[in-house]
Amino acid sequence: MRIVIGITGGIAAYKVPELVRLFRKGGHEVQCVATAHALNFVTPLTLETLSGRRLYSDLFAPANEHSTEHVSLKDWGDIMIVAPATANIIGKMACGIGDDALSTLLLAFGGKPIYVCPAMNTQMMENAAVERNIGTLKGWGVRIIEPTEGELACGAVGKGRMEEPERIYDIVVNGQMSNANGRLSDKQVLVTAGPTYERIDSVRFIGNYSSGKMGFALAEEFARRGAKVALVSGPTSLTVNHRGIERIDVESAQQMYEACMERFENCDVAVLSAAVADYRPEQAYDGKMKKKGDSGMVIRLVQTPDILATLGKRKGEGQLLVGFALETTNEMAYAQEKLQRKGLDMIVLNSLRDKGAGFGTDTNKVTIIDRQGKATEGGLKSKADVAKDIIDAIESRMVQ
Ligand code: CTP
Repeated sequence: MRIVIGITGGIAAYKVPELVRLFRKGGHEVQCVATAHALNFVTPLTLETLSGRRLYSDLFAPANEHSTEHVSLKDWGDIMIVAPATANIIGKMACGIGDDALSTLLLAFGGKPIYVCPAMNTQMMENAAVERNIGTLKGWGVRIIEPTEGELACGAVGKGRMEEPERIYDIVVNGQMSNANGRLSDKQVLVTAGPTYERIDSVRFIGNYSSGKMGFALAEEFARRGAKVALVSGPTSLTVNHRGIERIDVESAQQMYEACMERFENCDVAVLSAAVADYRPEQAYDGKMKKKGDSGMVIRLVQTPDILATLGKRKGEGQLLVGFALETTNEMAYAQEKLQRKGLDMIVLNSLRDKGAGFGTDTNKVTIIDRQGKATEGGLKSKADVAKDIIDAIESRMVQ
């Protein structure tokens, strides 16, 4: 790809040389365009050395190769990334203002993909005008790579840090590949993720250590391949950033069950990766239960509905149902039994004996088993890469 990276005057500009390097290493061509303010944070020499192309920053510089560089660069580039994007450039984009090299190029770049990576102080991020401007850009199809939470340059902690270069690279490269292929573009997908919380009283619950990372990685990968995804998520701190994903937050197994039943009928594929509680307290106590003393306490549990098994019974012609199995012993046998009993097309087996796999980690190691008993064992990979393997396996079944 030929990528134009627009750099504006935020402290996160110091991360842009790394982004340029990643794209170059990945075999892409990069042209940097900087605002005058950006050059307070990063030097032309760094950008030109890493990109291998002359920096464009002054609309009227006599040394420009063309008198209308903003138009010729528009023809040259396949996509544009604005990183970091200050409130100022976002405002200019939303209002159609072109008063320097970058903003005029952005005006000329219509019709091609533009990614914007906001970076600013939390209060600025939450300013009504900035929120409106970002909303306007989203409405026009500009892809916003949301900032993350953390310590900001001003010392405050909050949302506003520019996404890391590796992640921006991944989102852009995968996003472009999926748009080019669009393999799942007419497909509707249901994904469940995270734990469920079963209330004991107003302040306590029975839960589990699931982080939701595997389910979120699946939802993002499906969306990158063009699918429309309903992501039904139990309580998690994760955020999701894709226009193709509708997120439905639930707390309990019963709520997850209802959300899934509502949506399954229209789905082509359902992947249930949530760690659903099998039991819940029979009664949820209203208020905070008092200590009962030495004699201990008995909470009677009753079974929750099995979402996966219910969908297995409801599954219609052409629908594909995928479950997960987290096992500690007799892994293969239990997983295969689960696949048959719950009426699945495929099951993804996690063994808790594998280090780095399962709950909470960023990595996972799975074996994908189909109805015919064919098992494909993968190595230890990032959850994003495991999601790709699982969806590749699903896609290969869809074309059969
Ligand atoms: N699952 C579900 N609803 C439940 C329990 C589990 O949809 N109430 C789904 C999970 O999302 C996962 C799969 O079922 O895809 C595996 O669940 P698991 O708890 O391993 O299977 P169980 O049937 O509960 O078997 P066991 O606990 O005996 O291993």
